[in-house]
Amino acid sequence: ALRGDFAPLLLAWQRQDGRHDLPWQNTRDPYRVWLSEIMLQQTQVTTVLGYYKRFLERFPDVAALAAAPQDEVMAAWAGLGYYSRARNLHKCAQAVMERHGGAFPRTAAELAELPGIGRSTAAAISSFCFGERVAILDGNVKRVLGRLLAFDGDLAQQSQEKRLWRQAEALLPATEADMPAYTQGLMDLGASHCSPRQPQCLLCPVSGLCHGRAQGDPTLYPIKTRK
Ligand code: ADE
Repeated sequence: ALRGDFAPLLLAWQRQDGRHDLPWQNTRDPYRVWLSEIMLQQTQVTTVLGYYKRFLERFPDVAALAAAPQDEVMAAWAGLGYYSRARNLHKCAQAVMERHGGAFPRTAAELAELPGIGRSTAAAISSFCFGERVAILDGNVKRVLGRLLAFDGDLAQQSQEKRLWRQAEALLPATEADMPAYTQGLMDLGASHCSPRQPQCLLCPVSGLCHGRAQGDPTLYPIKTRK
């Protein structure tokens, strides 16, 4: 039941109750989606909103960002923290210009070769912008899928993390057109009902499929010992 029913239920919920009006939604410009994903990695949506708007006014496209002096990029980032993100952002813009003629590549595999773009960020960009059928697995999504599957592996172990990636891939919707809403739905569920401490299972669109809930306590999953 899980494998075929999860994506349709998540999609219906995302379209009804998910977020649709964030400034990096309703665009398929990979520059805008990439910038939002990097900013959102360690920073809350409400903080990102103002930085995102100002950053795009100062650097409207990847060519403008690549050509800018490093200190101007750092100045636009000041206050967001985790400054390696800003240095990699600048390096990535220059790599897109030099290696790809100014056009972001359209697959997660190629995106993940660029500075500062990991596997999950690469998949977010390619699924949002190009509909590629690839799984995301950031911290929130590890929690959502870990609970759904009652995933009993220890995510501190690389082999178990790989196993969860494969299970995430098995849950993807069948069609590319559904990928943007599906990826957003996973993020939205992790940011709302499937919260870390007190998940609101009575409101969750997939509680009927959730193995963690069926066992009694979804917050036991996923398991992560310290490395
Ligand atoms: N966090 C990471 N990506 C996001 C997105 N696209 N929307 C909202 N929060 C996010």
